[in-house]
Amino acid sequence: MRGHGKRRIYSEEALNEIRARANIVEVISDYTSLKQAGNSYKGLCPFHNEKTPSFTVSMEKQLFYCFGCGAGGDIFNFVMKIEKIKFRDAVKMLAERVGVTLLESESPEAREARKKLGRLYDCMEAACRYYETVFAKNPNAAEARNYISQRGLSDDAVRCFRLGYALKSWDGILKTLIESGFSTEELLSAGLILPSKSGKGYYDRFRGRLMFPITDVAGRVIGFGGRVLDNSEPKYLNSPETALFQKGKIIYGLALARNAIRNKSRAVIVEGYTDTITCHQFGFENVVATLGTALTKSQAKAISRYTSQVIMAYDADTAGNAATLRGMEVLKNEGADVKIGVLPIGEDPDSVLRKQGKEAFTKILEDAKQLIDYKLHLIISQVDTSDLDQKVKAAKEVAQILAGVGSAVERGEYAEKTARLLKISVEAMLEDINSLISVQGSRKAGSRRFQVRDRFGVSRNTSFKDDIAKSCGSGTAQVLKAERLLLRIMIDNKEIFETVEKKLKWDEFSDKRHKKLARAIQTGLDVFSEDTGKNSLTPAEVISFIDDRETLEYAAGVFIGEGEELPENLKKAADDCINVILEHNLVGRIREIEKELMSLSGTGKMQKSRELLAEFGYLKKRISEEFRPFRGIL
Ligand code: CTP
Ligand code: MN
Repeated sequence: MRGHGKRRIYSEEALNEIRARANIVEVISDYTSLKQAGNSYKGLCPFHNEKTPSFTVSMEKQLFYCFGCGAGGDIFNFVMKIEKIKFRDAVKMLAERVGVTLLESESPEAREARKKLGRLYDCMEAACRYYETVFAKNPNAAEARNYISQRGLSDDAVRCFRLGYALKSWDGILKTLIESGFSTEELLSAGLILPSKSGKGYYDRFRGRLMFPITDVAGRVIGFGGRVLDNSEPKYLNSPETALFQKGKIIYGLALARNAIRNKSRAVIVEGYTDTITCHQFGFENVVATLGTALTKSQAKAISRYTSQVIMAYDADTAGNAATLRGMEVLKNEGADVKIGVLPIGEDPDSVLRKQGKEAFTKILEDAKQLIDYKLHLIISQVDTSDLDQKVKAAKEVAQILAGVGSAVERGEYAEKTARLLKISVEAMLEDINSLISVQGSRKAGSRRFQVRDRFGVSRNTSFKDDIAKSCGSGTAQVLKAERLLLRIMIDNKEIFETVEKKLKWDEFSDKRHKKLARAIQTGLDVFSEDTGKNSLTPAEVISFIDDRETLEYAAGVFIGEGEELPENLKKAADDCINVILEHNLVGRIREIEKELMSLSGTGKMQKSRELLAEFGYLKKRISEEFRPFRGIL
């Protein structure tokens, strides 16, 4: 988790040391001659042919950017690009140039801690090998081998996922690993043994269990899950939290799945060990698991590094449904586009594949539903359509959900579908929805955001993000400017960042690169404040958290390009920017409604027109009440 891409090979301190010592202007001057111009330096771009200088270097910000070709980045990016070498080599080259010895920059404590962790990894690896060997060869593991073959897990799957077995003995792992030179202290901190109740001696934590090793993204074993072979409880026993193993952070199977996730641009998240393994065995190699816990922010982040397209395929039971709704919200907040694979009631991906085969699961993934569809499905699938009371109740719940849908067209579609499934009239359905909208409209008119809560307790802010990309009215330049200013403020002050985070979703930025940049700032602040309690980021640090080149270079331009100083009152400036962005989104939606109304005129679709007009009035009112007064500095 902490290793962020290529950049975390070296400690941030070492990189900063190099940045501080290697004057970016001096280094770049070796390749093109630079002249001071105000706050920065200018010269002919070494990356493209030009006659007038548009290549800019800022000593203060430690960045370069070419307004001609868009090349940009920090000193490491420059050396990588100009020498056509990898990051690692660029760091080495610069370190040599300025006399930073890369390893020796580590403090004695840091080195000690790193050694200890190294031992812990070795210990887990040795344990994994031991369990694997026992499973493969030990006569007392016959029961486990039978169990595995009964469940249909292939030899290949066992090998890939390194399944093992812990004997029913009290000192199997204890003896073996002590003999290999590990101390009881190390075994304790690895979570493999426990002190015995009597106070004397230790015993194995995992006994008589099928062992599922859990690895980090790099494939290093960091924990285990152990399953009983019968129906006894607990069904699974997991490693305790250790220096290596933090349950909220790991994603089971990610090391094996990440290439497939990247290649297919899609991840499938399931609940359990066996679900993951069976999926892989059937060829679904982009599948990972959250291991029965609620999906956390840090898991969502880890997945969004590989793709933004996610399908959740949790067990079709009450717990699974609730976990799905919560998990979706978390993933969406990380900018993922989430859908839900709906399984037959009572089944999990493992059982579906075993009973119905590959095609059935493929179809479930193909038919994956959007959040609203899924909620409607949860309600409608439980209704007996011959029972009027049930239908009325369900229609009410559906109306509650649809009242929160921003687009009238969407609402109309869902209303029609629901009406068909519940066997009720679509007019009645729409009337219910509209009466809710007008109530909410007047009640909430004074509130900052158009927010509707339904029975699933998941709040949903109306999002107009798609409209903005399409609109290129005169407001667009202003909103892009506001977004860029906001991003510059966000790196400067964590406190302000946190307020912004509350008021604005990253998806509400209209430029895709701004969304990514916001996420990079978030990751940077997370990592740095965890490591060092740092409260702000330098532009060069933010850049080190951006994975794709286009955004990285663009970001250099944002930080370097608009030479203006930040406004004095950052908090106020941030608020102004947020308001410009939110207002812009509202205006975008209003334009859309205007268009829809035009196209409806003369078609006799009165109901729809009325609905749109109501929303139109409501949005206009909000704009005049909430946003006009904020027209600030921009
Ligand atoms: N789990 C756990 N501890 C338990 C029960 C469940 O950690 N006591 C986690 C495991 O990671 C498990 C997941 O929750 O894989 C889902 O639980 P469940 O559906 O009960 O197990 P399955 O994965 O379906 O296991 P199996 O197919 O072996 O029954
Ligand atoms: Mn299950």
